[in-house]
Amino acid sequence: MDDFNGFTARTARYWDELANDYQKSTTISVKDFHYGPLLPGDSELNLLPKPLTGTRCLELGCGAAQNSVYLARKGAECVAVDVSREQLNHAEKLADGYGVSLDLQLLDMEALPEELGTFDLIHSAYGVPFAANPEALIRRCAELLRPGGVLLFSLGHPVYAGEWTELDEEERGIFLTSYFDPTPDVREGEGEEAVVCARAYPVSEGVEWILRAGLRLTALREPAALPVHQMEREERRKRVPYYSPEWAEQVFEMQRFPIVNILRAEKAV
Ligand SMILES: C[S@@+](CC[C@H](N)C(=O)[O-])C[C@H]1O[C@@H](n2cnc3c(N)ncnc32)[C@H](O)[C@@H]1O
Repeated sequence: MDDFNGFTARTARYWDELANDYQKSTTISVKDFHYGPLLPGDSELNLLPKPLTGTRCLELGCGAAQNSVYLARKGAECVAVDVSREQLNHAEKLADGYGVSLDLQLLDMEALPEELGTFDLIHSAYGVPFAANPEALIRRCAELLRPGGVLLFSLGHPVYAGEWTELDEEERGIFLTSYFDPTPDVREGEGEEAVVCARAYPVSEGVEWILRAGLRLTALREPAALPVHQMEREERRKRVPYYSPEWAEQVFEMQRFPIVNILRAEKAV
């Protein structure tokens, strides 16, 4: 942890502080692969490579690594990295509970060492927005992908960086000061220097990172939230892999504007 630079060390402190509450207040399934709050999982979006058995996968900003547990249960060999020791502790308990083995590493995703090896799939659900230099991160991922390998990650949607505004009962929407330079999401923790900054980028920028890294863009998705307010608990449990009552309060907004964009890219064979 002492080896992390200032930006990353502050991120680690923030997530160390938040980890318990985050994992307690959020329900993240290991029976589907998730992309973000209230969104359909991969069982509906179909972006993961198949078959997963025997593939080598790397998760960036894994948190409690629910997605890696999902992949490991499908027979993949999974490495998962995070800067927060507390988040990784949750990941360890979760993996143990499901009887799968993950290679969990306390690492800055922006300094991925050669020793990690190469991968068939590199994935991240809302980890990349926390990177200081996301383009360099995508370039590094392209290096670590095997021929034919897949990069799959979600970014904050620039439109959702705007502010929800109600002019009157009928006229409600998002007020965006700039699509090209969306307001960063800066969050401060309780402790000194516990702070993170998540950035959203114009959609074309994420696409450009992929193309400049020499990868081929194979999908770009902007999913709407599922109608969780109209679902019985059982249906919600099956169809919504990432849920919390706090996010559910935003379902009206999230059904009208995308909260994330999901990018999928492949390395040439
Ligand atoms: C919003 S959480 C998402 C966690 C997980 N992907 C999920 O969907 O629940 C972002 C995670 O990224 C991690 N993170 C942020 N910056 C990082 C960095 N530079 N290197 C590794 N992990 C990082 C945080 O510690 C946190 O666990």
